[in-house]
Amino acid sequence: MPSPLPSEKALVPFVSVENMMHLVHRIGIETMLTELTDVIEADFRRWERFDKTPRVASHSREGVIELMPTSDGEIYSFKYVNGHPKNMAQGLQTVTAFGLLAEVSTGYPVLLTEMTLLTALRTAATSAMAARHLAPKGARTMAMIGNGAQAEFQALAMKAVCGIDHLRLYDIDPLATAKTARNLSGTGLTVTACTSSQSAIEGAEIITTCTADKQYATILSDNMVGAGVHINAIGGDCPGKTELHRDILLRADTFVEYPPQTRIEGEIQQMDPDYPVTEFWRVLTGQATGRREARQITLFDSVGFAIEDFSALRYVRDKLEGTGLYQELDIIADPDDPRDLFGMLQRAK
Ligand SMILES: NC(=O)c1ccc[n+]([C@@H]2O[C@H](COP(=O)([O-])OP(=O)(O)OC[C@H]3O[C@@H](n4cnc5c(N)ncnc54)[C@H](O)[C@@H]3O)[C@@H](O)[C@H]2O)c1
Repeated sequence: MPSPLPSEKALVPFVSVENMMHLVHRIGIETMLTELTDVIEADFRRWERFDKTPRVASHSREGVIELMPTSDGEIYSFKYVNGHPKNMAQGLQTVTAFGLLAEVSTGYPVLLTEMTLLTALRTAATSAMAARHLAPKGARTMAMIGNGAQAEFQALAMKAVCGIDHLRLYDIDPLATAKTARNLSGTGLTVTACTSSQSAIEGAEIITTCTADKQYATILSDNMVGAGVHINAIGGDCPGKTELHRDILLRADTFVEYPPQTRIEGEIQQMDPDYPVTEFWRVLTGQATGRREARQITLFDSVGFAIEDFSALRYVRDKLEGTGLYQELDIIADPDDPRDLFGMLQRAK
């Protein structure tokens, strides 16, 4: 007898890299970045509803592999993500990811998707969310230090959400800067390629550091950073991996996602355990102050938190409806009689 078809719940929609690219273009990248910023912000506003834990990291000499779970009691998500700065020299991505969404009531998955592109999009949207509340009013120029895989996403989110129209690029590899400038031509951003981080930050109200190095680096030193800027530090996101000189942190007001994770992974790992930080969600809910005055240096010490992936996964699930941009994967064994798992196997002979 042929085995019965799996039930609807057993078939899990899977979004491949190819389909994710089609989805991004169908929505429009700047629209998607803006909408992602809004859905992440909406979830940050209900921060207390979520299960939170620092991500589970497996470190090696070459990099790190991490699992990032969370749940709001109705939906559960996790992301698998790596960070391998040396991969690029071998023609591989520094960061790759995939993720899953499941319903809490049954534990059945409802979405499996690539998340390498989605991580770049959600990281950029998270940066823009923080910058729209912390950056100086009317900021138009951003310095972008580190012009790798994340760079264009960061630039376009800051353009779409915060109104940045001028970008000053710097990377130790001029080919990376040329690639980013080329990719951003025709987007409406005025792009200036610079030959040092010092010159890149001239006149910039927002400074994004997005470099990859598996060691403490000093992308910005204290004397380089003037009053009134907003620093969006993306690349310091692992123990032993930071981008800013600690003296900058002594002058800045620092905003973080989830302190127990950021104290391990962020720029603040260089500081004493009682170094003061503000949880960014508290700014959104009015429990803490963001930018107080024009001369203040604000720092968003971004490491990437599971709730951002949760928001991005739910957004993709909503946007998929009616698009056909997925395949159905038979990944859940689901016998007609739930107790007859073995019988199902036997009948498949
Ligand atoms: N905070 C988050 O949520 C989050 C999310 C994704 C990635 N990241 C991190 O962002 C960083 C960038 O990721 P990516 O995918 O763009 O990596 P990538 O390897 O594609 O690009 C990194 C770029 O940094 C440049 N670089 C290295 N050292 C530099 C220096 N001293 N000065 C200037 N440029 C330098 C490299 O030449 C390269 O072009 C990584 O460290 C990654 O772990 C953070």
